[in-house]
Amino acid sequence: MTTSNSSPIQFAYWVPNVSGGLVISKIEQRTNWEHLYNRQLAQTAENVGFDYALTQIRFTAGYGAENQHESVTFSQYLLSVTERLKVIAALLPGPWNPVLAAKQIATISKLYNARIAVNVVSGWFRSEFKAIGEPWLDHEERYLRSEEFIRCLQGIWSQPAFNFSGDFYRFRDYVLKPKPLEPFPEIFQGGSSRAARDMASRVSDWYFTNGGSVEYIQKQIEDIRTKAQLNDHQVKIGVNGFAIARDSEQEANAVLQDILDHSDIDAVKGFHHEVQNAGNASPEKEGNWAKSTLEDLVQYNDGFKTNLIGTPLQIAQRIIEYKKVGVNLMLLGFLHVQEELEYFGKNVIPLVRQLENELGL
Ligand SMILES: Cc1cc2nc3c(=O)[nH]c(=O)nc-3n(C[C@H](O)[C@H](O)[C@H](O)COP(=O)(O)O)c2cc1C
Repeated sequence: MTTSNSSPIQFAYWVPNVSGGLVISKIEQRTNWEHLYNRQLAQTAENVGFDYALTQIRFTAGYGAENQHESVTFSQYLLSVTERLKVIAALLPGPWNPVLAAKQIATISKLYNARIAVNVVSGWFRSEFKAIGEPWLDHEERYLRSEEFIRCLQGIWSQPAFNFSGDFYRFRDYVLKPKPLEPFPEIFQGGSSRAARDMASRVSDWYFTNGGSVEYIQKQIEDIRTKAQLNDHQVKIGVNGFAIARDSEQEANAVLQDILDHSDIDAVKGFHHEVQNAGNASPEKEGNWAKSTLEDLVQYNDGFKTNLIGTPLQIAQRIIEYKKVGVNLMLLGFLHVQEELEYFGKNVIPLVRQLENELGL
């Protein structure tokens, strides 16, 4: 099946709205989780070629993330200080119900010219659910709920009066006004398991997945797009990667080694134990983190596996390999986010554009 596409590959970055940065390491990290740092970061991002910013939802501390700003609120703040950047707010069914989310996001869409999108996450952190008194559903049920949640968002936004009778949610002639601006907010989802892929092939606009080799990602894409075709649905693909761009490959590899040498091993082990509630809990055991080593987990979403580590040209060439197998967006994390995102935008993105032109991709 042909999977390449002719639109320019898009770029997103992880908003550090939780403390501790994007690696579980005691290495010095010049990354800050507070709003003023993030204001400057978002403004830089839109000026150097990033399309999206992704905020994270976390209710409790753990594994290096002591403080966490709330995702929807923080996304709205970032929209208020930028002009073009689209901001993706994470929503966790359970703590959120679809009507609250639909209403919040519709208002934000109106206020910020349709620049808000959402990432529906399905939960991996059982201790967090316990801490806030939320029932912990098993893996398949979490996805059944997420799919109903997404169908409700889509129905509430698009239909004059919405009716729904599901296992988790019910609506009777529910009228939401105002509706969000069109195009309606894009719906991303995170996860790699079969349930995640099946949901993407039915309802989501975007499938976000953890880092992995080109071959591993290609397999997922083929599975999703084959099923999506049968469902007459189109879904775009975003892949996580941790980028270390330096003037030489040796320098970049040395930074990776330094991050690993300083990894907070107790926190990484704790995280490893906890993420077994995600991918390994899925019946086929193919979800996020199901096969991650302790070294992989030093980056929360397996970002080292994508291997965006080297010179700007090496990284640009690698991104093109992902594009060739059908990836539409690279989601990026960095060590010193402000400096490195700026370097990436100025030195890597232009090379990607050049290669796309040269190769007619
Ligand atoms: C790019 C991306 C972003 C995610 N963001 C969050 C988040 O902010 N909060 C959260 O609790 N889970 C987040 N997740 C976790 C997923 O929603 C999901 O629970 C997890 O990946 C396990 O899914 P799986 O078992 O289907 O692979 C994210 C996952 C990915 C891939």
